[in-house]
Amino acid sequence: MTTPAPTFPPGFLFGAATASYQIEGAVAEDGRSPSIWDTFSHTPGKTFGGDTGDVACDHYHRMPADVALMQELGLEAYRFSVAWPRIVPGGTGAVNAAGVAFYDRLVDTLLAAGIRPVVTLYHWDLPQVLEDRGGWRTREVADWFAEYTAAVVGTLGDRVKHWTTLNEPWCSSMLSHAIGAHAPGHQDPLEGLVTAHHLMLAHGRAVPVIREHCPGAQVSITLNPTQVHGPEDPTEADLDAVRRADNALNGVFFGPLFHGAYPEGMLDDVAHLTDGSFVHAGDLAEIGAPLDNLGVNNYFPTRVAATPEGGEPDGGIHLLPGCERVDEVAPRPPLTAMGWEQSPESHRAIVERSARESGLPVYVTENGSAWDDTIAADGQVHDPERVAYLMAHLGALADAVAAGTDVRGYFAWSLLDNFEWALGYDKRFGIVHVDYDTQVRTVKDSGRQYARVIAAHHPR
Ligand code: FCB
Repeated sequence: MTTPAPTFPPGFLFGAATASYQIEGAVAEDGRSPSIWDTFSHTPGKTFGGDTGDVACDHYHRMPADVALMQELGLEAYRFSVAWPRIVPGGTGAVNAAGVAFYDRLVDTLLAAGIRPVVTLYHWDLPQVLEDRGGWRTREVADWFAEYTAAVVGTLGDRVKHWTTLNEPWCSSMLSHAIGAHAPGHQDPLEGLVTAHHLMLAHGRAVPVIREHCPGAQVSITLNPTQVHGPEDPTEADLDAVRRADNALNGVFFGPLFHGAYPEGMLDDVAHLTDGSFVHAGDLAEIGAPLDNLGVNNYFPTRVAATPEGGEPDGGIHLLPGCERVDEVAPRPPLTAMGWEQSPESHRAIVERSARESGLPVYVTENGSAWDDTIAADGQVHDPERVAYLMAHLGALADAVAAGTDVRGYFAWSLLDNFEWALGYDKRFGIVHVDYDTQVRTVKDSGRQYARVIAAHHPR
């Protein structure tokens, strides 16, 4: 490894992240109702090998040992999500005490271990009962989400101070409703746009609820912006393709959250789909509720070009609203096991842009890479590519901080190998390996490396 060790200022927070459906398992225990991901993963053909989150990492039963592992790694913070169908199995209405109790124990165990809990309210596991009532397609979801938020913050808010409303609303809207790769698997560009707006509204409505139930809360949302690159020598059409892709990937959230409007020209680009009446008077003010920081999840940049005259569009981006003639251009190798481009420079650029657009301190709430890990003869997991990716991205982030961008922390995705959504257990992102037959955890070389980086900043 040639990259020099990155250095961050005092107080910089090092953590790792997970999400409820990806690790918990125990899907039918203690009153949890099915989520849209239970339905989707149990639908033939939707996930790799028909994999489901039924058992996942069995974290629901192994939580104390997993927290001990975090402590061993020296993690200062743990970002996890709460499963809505555990807390309010009916979607709205009665709160399930047994579901709340699990997160109560988790928070207490973390605090006893000196690890700061950073809680995401929604990381994609919408109760199926609410999907049956229209899910993110209906405006009512904003009230359902605010009600659920009150239930969670009302019980954990005495101990949890870091709150994130939504994880990657781009994925729960565009990827799930326009591209169709995630639950509920619809392919409709207008639905992508409308669900994005309703997610924003839900977020905006939840912010004051969090503040009411948790005085002193740090309130946030996590987006997954991506640096959009056009061809080296772009035509007018290529530049327009970059603009459209950037709007459908980034501006659709940056605009309403931080600029009080959708990006200029975006509603014109989708005029063939909608008259924009899904945006009601007052929505943008509600969506723009002041935040304390912004979470940024970023793994890779995006490359696009205009679809050539008379040609068929390439890749998935053309399914996004307003992007009908945008090609997705092949990423530049070496690629990760996900087929994702590795670009620390683009990572730095999008973090800097996120800080500029939001005017907020930023936390990198997810970053990491998947590789085909195996347990070696010595019983260890040697993952030099993940070590290199981690160090290069931390290095780029440290450069951004040194150049004046207010980045307050970094969360490795992920603490554990886990259920990688449509790709099931085929893709491993953990800094800790999970043997899914035995549930044995093995810290990978990347986990040890990360622990060394943390220890260098905070000698114990
Ligand atoms: C992000 C998700 C996270 C994980 C990583 C690889 O989009 O937030 O749950 O799947 O990608």
